Amino acid sequence: MSSSNPLRDPADRRLPRIAGPSGLVIFGVTGDLSRKKLMPAVYDLANRGLLPPGFSLVGFARRDWEHEDFAQVVHNAVKEHSRTPFREEVWQQLIQGMRFVQGTFDDDDAFERLRGTIEELDKAQGTGGNFAFYLSVPPKSFPVVIQQLKKHGLADQSSGSWRRAVIEKPFGHDLRSAEELNAIVHEVFGSDQVFRIDHYLGKETVQNILALRFANTMFEPIWNRSYVDHVQITMAEDIGIGGRAGYYDGIGAARDVIQNHLLQLLALTAMEEPASFDADALAAEKTKVLGAVRLPRDAGVPFYLRTGKRLGRRVTEIAVVFQRAPHSPFDTTATEELGSNAIVIRVQPDEGVTVRFGSKVPGTSMEIRDVSMDFAYGESFTESSPEAYERLILDVLLGDANLFPRTEEVELSWKILDPIERYWDEHGTPAQYPAGTWGPVEADDMLERDGRSWRRP
Ligand SMILES: NC(=O)c1ccc[n+]([C@@H]2O[C@H](COP(=O)([O-])OP(=O)(O)OC[C@H]3O[C@@H](n4cnc5c(N)ncnc54)[C@H](OP(=O)(O)O)[C@@H]3O)[C@@H](O)[C@H]2O)c1
Repeated sequence: MSSSNPLRDPADRRLPRIAGPSGLVIFGVTGDLSRKKLMPAVYDLANRGLLPPGFSLVGFARRDWEHEDFAQVVHNAVKEHSRTPFREEVWQQLIQGMRFVQGTFDDDDAFERLRGTIEELDKAQGTGGNFAFYLSVPPKSFPVVIQQLKKHGLADQSSGSWRRAVIEKPFGHDLRSAEELNAIVHEVFGSDQVFRIDHYLGKETVQNILALRFANTMFEPIWNRSYVDHVQITMAEDIGIGGRAGYYDGIGAARDVIQNHLLQLLALTAMEEPASFDADALAAEKTKVLGAVRLPRDAGVPFYLRTGKRLGRRVTEIAVVFQRAPHSPFDTTATEELGSNAIVIRVQPDEGVTVRFGSKVPGTSMEIRDVSMDFAYGESFTESSPEAYERLILDVLLGDANLFPRTEEVELSWKILDPIERYWDEHGTPAQYPAGTWGPVEADDMLERDGRSWRRP
């Protein structure tokens, strides 16, 4: 363990950050997210040596399973979805700390069995009473699980150990419900015990926004309203809603991804330089931005956000588009094919950064056209990026809250979205669009009215 080695300086960020004695309880362990992301991420962390030797994983679900059945489910999920290669010795170590508790969320006996299981693991695995409870459950069940944790003493840290709650998205469906949920959560857990998941913040490319902006002298001086014309944030998917039609009908795309992922990207793109990267300083700057967002367009530099299914391509990117240079020394014909300069942060799938600028076309006349310079993670670094959930689960175990939105951020984001949802309720949502295109014509019209156009990534 890093903290027990006197030769290791915990402030040295080059050293691996290894979690201390601890365990993770996953509620909703049979669900899609747990199978595809959470259980594989736990294995990947173990495989990278970032979990303590006695790390324990407790699954809570209503299936009538024995421990062995649960271990088999985790095994299958890991084999199918983990990022790093399967190693039998890592698996054998991990399985020592695996337990299963059967029950529904309103079942008091099941929560007592969970308490007993945690006490048993403390003795058998040396988890020290330190447990994170991951609520990978339908959002309507967040309150009951939180209340059961309180009722059965599972949120209690009085013994010097820590207890943390990890809450999936969406956090509420409007400002009022988010406030109500925050009230329920904070009746049980202190603000430093609550980790709200926005998995976009666990992505390397999203954290790279901070590196790009604040570790380089060439970008930040022009990253302001004097030079930036507008910002486009796109989260496009080429797939449809698959079997999740019920979920989308109930929630809609804006609540699903704009309130959280896209507004977090907006905050990271627009915020001032924080005093440090600790959780308080980061949250303070993001909160200022979210509190300053105004609709529709009296907020200085416009930020255009778009998302949808069955669009032309799967791509998430932030394009910072610059004002055009005066071009005075050039004939108009020389620059007629020149677009605006742009810095494009490619969040997924081909992670990296593109800088677009004008260059002279080879030849005898002065003609300028757009060219681009690319940085690709895959080409510049040998190590592959960890999955977002690996980073976030490790941060929870370390108690590192930088990458988790705070109460105020969540509530301010709903404050931005609520009037839009109300408008759509009263006037209808944007028109439909043919699959494989870049969305409804109204989206193009909106930018055209401002004398701009969407990028075609
Ligand atoms: N799936 C994703 O890619 C994704 C992405 C982002 C966020 N999320 C969020 O993550 C959470 C989980 O999503 P999911 O897609 O994994 O959902 P899911 O596939 O529907 O799984 C829900 C889980 O909760 C359990 N559950 C439901 N009601 C229960 C009850 N009364 N008592 C005990 N267990 C109960 C289910 O158990 P049974 O198997 O017994 O029904 C299942 O394990 C949600 O908050 C969702 O919004 C999911």
